[in-house]
Parts: sequence; C-alpha cells; structure tokens
Amino acid sequence: MHDITLITLQSLKQSGEKIAMLTCYDATFAQAACAAGVEILLVGDSLGMVLQGHDSTLPVTLADMAYHVACVKRGNQGALILADLPFMAYATTEQTLHSCGTLMQAGAHMVKLEGAGWLAEPIRLLAERGIPACAHLGLTPQAVNLLGGYKVQGRQENQARQMRADAIALEQAGAAMLLLECVPSELATEISQAVKIPVIGIGAGASTDGQVLVLHDMLGLSLSGRSPKFVKDFMAGQANIPAALAAYVRAVKAVTFPAAEHGFSA
Ligand code: KIV
Repeated sequence: MHDITLITLQSLKQSGEKIAMLTCYDATFAQAACAAGVEILLVGDSLGMVLQGHDSTLPVTLADMAYHVACVKRGNQGALILADLPFMAYATTEQTLHSCGTLMQAGAHMVKLEGAGWLAEPIRLLAERGIPACAHLGLTPQAVNLLGGYKVQGRQENQARQMRADAIALEQAGAAMLLLECVPSELATEISQAVKIPVIGIGAGASTDGQVLVLHDMLGLSLSGRSPKFVKDFMAGQANIPAALAAYVRAVKAVTFPAAEHGFSA
C-alpha cells in the first residue's frame, strides 16, 4: 500500500470510493489492518474502554495515547495514523499545542478533537501550525455526562441545523476531516454532501465518505456482552482475524456495510 495522505483521502472522496478506517492500538493489529487495506488507523481513546476496562473514555491520559500511537506507528505500513486527543487535553490553547505536539512526535499524522462549533478556534490554530485535525461531531463520548448517556444526536431539527452549520464552519476553519458518530443517516448524508473534506461515519449510515468501527466490536468482542446497533461482527463466518479485517474493508468499499439496520432515523 502506498502511503495514505490527506491528498489520497480527498481523491477517494472525489472519486466516490469509500474510505476504510478502524481503531487500532498496537503494532501487530496495525500491520494486519494495513495488510487488509485499511486506509486510516484511528488510535482512539476508546482504548480506555476496550483495553483498560474503564466504563468511559474520560480516564485516558495523554501519556496513554502517546504510548499507543508509538506502538501503532511501529507496525504501520502506509496507513494514515489518526490520534485522539484525550479528555481535557485540549481545554486551553497551551494544552492543545502541547498535546498535539506530543501525539504528532509519537507518530500521528492527524489529531481528532471531539466537540462542536467551538472547535473552529483550536482547529484554525492547528492548521496554521501544520497539524491536520479531524472534528468529531454528533455523539462525543468525552461529553457522555453532559449528554446523559451514549445517545443518538441530531434528531431534533434545531440540533440538526446546528450540526450542519458547525460542519461547514469547521471546514472553513481548516478541518481536514469530519467524523460523525451516531447521527441520523439523512443528516449524515446532507453533511457529507455539504463539505468538500472527507466525512467518516460510525452509526451514521452508508452515505458518508468512509466508515470506522472499534476493532474489538467488529471482531465480535465485547466486555459487556452487548454491541451497539451500528456494529457488525465481521468475525462471523471467517476463519481468522486477517480474513475478518479483509471482509470489513471489502464491505466498506462495496457499500454493503453499513446496511439500513445499522443506521438511525431522525
Ligand atoms: O475513540 C474512538 O475509538 C472513536 C471512535 C468511536 C470513532 O472515537
């Protein structure tokens, strides 16, 4: 696989070819995901839940993130490494610059921030300093306490209008990519068409420019024994993990995943 850059992602969006992204936290899975054709490895703060066993992403530290980014970098074979800024690591300008510097020096090619329109300021700051940023909108797990749970966002018309406006404002501020989590499929379609930057979805229907799942979820592993509606178990019917990863990439590219049953309506 050639090195995936922002230019590659832009041209995938323009050509209509879907982008395959997966979370990844270590070198062995990084190598396996690259071999399967995954274009973006997301070192997600979901590691707080699936690796560390916490009940939310809030306990994850910048040092945890830098450690896992460095692990993924060692196994990476050409994918773009996207790293989550953990909870409260971008609350001030100084923290944002320090945190992004740490993750980029550990091996990230892009950073992800959760929020809404207020992200325009940090994203502009990062773009000016040469750091590509992905804005994570919709269900933002770091705000689970404010949201009152892991719930679909943007169902009400005023919320949907605000999310569309935020997406456009963040693109104008210099965001390199958007990630939409748990939003109605129609809203995700509108946002994907309204911006020129790639939009990746999780629980956002089939019309976004790409898809992401948490690695453990798509391998059928769950600490709680329950999977969210938007997850598909790609291990089912496969002989081994490399085959499951390849099946995921094939399904994303063929737009057979996500199916209607994996999405949400308004
Ligand atoms: O942390 C993470 O894994 C994420 C995905 C759920 C998109 O942000």
